[in-house]
Amino acid sequence: MKLDVYLTPDDLSEQLRTDAREGLTSSPKWLPPKYFYDAYGSDLFERITQLPEYYPTRAERAVLAEHAADIAAETGVKTLVELGSGSSDKTRLLLDAMHDTGTLAQFVPLDVSETALRSAAKAIDGDYPDLEVHGIVGDFSHDLHRIPEGGRRMVVFLGGTIGNLPPVERAAFLEELRDVLHEGEWLLLGTDLVKDPQTLVAAYDDAAGVTAEFNLNVLRVLNRKLGADFDLTAFEHVALWDPKHNWIEMRLRATRDMRVEVPALELDVDFKAGEELRTEVSAKFDRVRVEAELGRAGFKAARWWTDPQGRFAVTLARAVE
Ligand code: AVJ
Repeated sequence: MKLDVYLTPDDLSEQLRTDAREGLTSSPKWLPPKYFYDAYGSDLFERITQLPEYYPTRAERAVLAEHAADIAAETGVKTLVELGSGSSDKTRLLLDAMHDTGTLAQFVPLDVSETALRSAAKAIDGDYPDLEVHGIVGDFSHDLHRIPEGGRRMVVFLGGTIGNLPPVERAAFLEELRDVLHEGEWLLLGTDLVKDPQTLVAAYDDAAGVTAEFNLNVLRVLNRKLGADFDLTAFEHVALWDPKHNWIEMRLRATRDMRVEVPALELDVDFKAGEELRTEVSAKFDRVRVEAELGRAGFKAARWWTDPQGRFAVTLARAVE
């Protein structure tokens, strides 16, 4: 097993300082979602995936379980690259199917979290002795050019994480990804689908309050990394459906006027009672939109699968001229 680190904890805290300064001095205020995922946040996310209201993980797993063999047969790739790999749990369905067809030689998980990556890569390395595991600690918005060459490749980007990129960044991301791939190589993309707002909102505002805790965790991260003094009890979790943009937004609403000190930025941030800080968008798609966005970036959608209830889609696309 090999592990390349292109994003150190120091790089990440440097980025956090830049992003937090920009977001907290904007109007309205915002923070990027990637800072949810410290060790506690990653753990909370794993708990989210098991909530009765949070259907995307189960729906995507159902699609992969049903179609992994088709994907393996159709693509016959030598290298599987996974962006934002996290626990790489669902990816095992693909690894198993590709192992059975016998073409797969290399697995390249890429993630911002070195701890998550190390443990996932190690577990897979142990369970698939014939597979060469080459982990990359990096950011899927900056480090795509680090993806190694190696026979025909398939990049998988699961969980609907592409929906966390706002439209302009999403287009740039897809173009950059197309750029690092050769004609004929593959992209397997998981996207959550537009559906009734009650189901969507419940998935991001669960009864047990795990998503609220996950959302508040970004403030905990700022307190720890930047010495900030956010009072977590003075913010409430908000999840809303934006029908104009077709995305879920998570926000943190200040429940009183307050001033927050952020010593690492030499910054004081004032909140008004009721003011909201945006922490995540999670875009939802339909087939036409997925295929159009892929097409604009130079991919041709070859297959489209959903779970039986039509809640979540997996698209297999090919890099074209
Ligand atoms: C799986 C990272 C895409 O947007 O649904 C879950 C993250 N946020 N609950 C998503 C998330 C709130 C999630 N991603």
